[in-house]
Amino acid sequence: MKKLSLAVALLVVPTWAQAWPWSQDMANTISIKPQESVNPAEPGMQVFPKRSVPVKGTTVFIKDLEAARNMSNPVPVDDASVAQGGRLFTIYCTPCHGQSGTGDGLVGAKLIMQPWNLTNSNEMHSWNPKEYPDGYIFGYMTIGGAVMPSYANDLSVTERWQVVNYVRKVLQKAPPATAAAQAK
Ligand code: HEC
Repeated sequence: MKKLSLAVALLVVPTWAQAWPWSQDMANTISIKPQESVNPAEPGMQVFPKRSVPVKGTTVFIKDLEAARNMSNPVPVDDASVAQGGRLFTIYCTPCHGQSGTGDGLVGAKLIMQPWNLTNSNEMHSWNPKEYPDGYIFGYMTIGGAVMPSYANDLSVTERWQVVNYVRKVLQKAPPATAAAQAK
């Protein structure tokens, strides 16, 4: 009779029934963030294994767009880097800036702020490398803008410079129509 009344109690008080320990086990797992210590006695960042060395070129830290302007482009403007940059530009930039680079992408049309014109027909400024060096374009991809997202996670450092080379060589040196044709 006691068992029966417990079962009845469980049925009429469903929230109480759900609060049994078995219903919480999975929810209570410890969440360990990347590089976090698993040892509660030694919290903080996990020490790197002995003899680990930093790998060059995987990431780059820049304070702001001003700091980025002073960076020099380590990737030579050759056919290979321009071609690779063009491929990446088509994937990552054309939705907003358009294949022509003028800012007529389909996604860009829906934004509250229209993507800016990356070609020399820009009404805001001409792309004189003295005024707007390669580092400026690199920095914009790394940091992003008010509306434009950052591409620091999607494009590696080298890939970002390749896109810079493409923007310089194809979009800014050629009239938009030719740029679109060349990008194909
Ligand atoms: C989601 C839409 C979007 C994508 C994708 C996008 N941009 Fe932008 N971009 C913008 C907008 C909007 C602006 C205007 C400035 C702002 O957002 O602060 C801008 C501005 C810029 C500027 C500054 C232009 C100037 O006249 O000073 C550069 C350079 C630039 N983008 C390069 C790129 C490159 C290269 C890519 C591809 C890796 C890219 N953008 C992808 C939306 C986008």
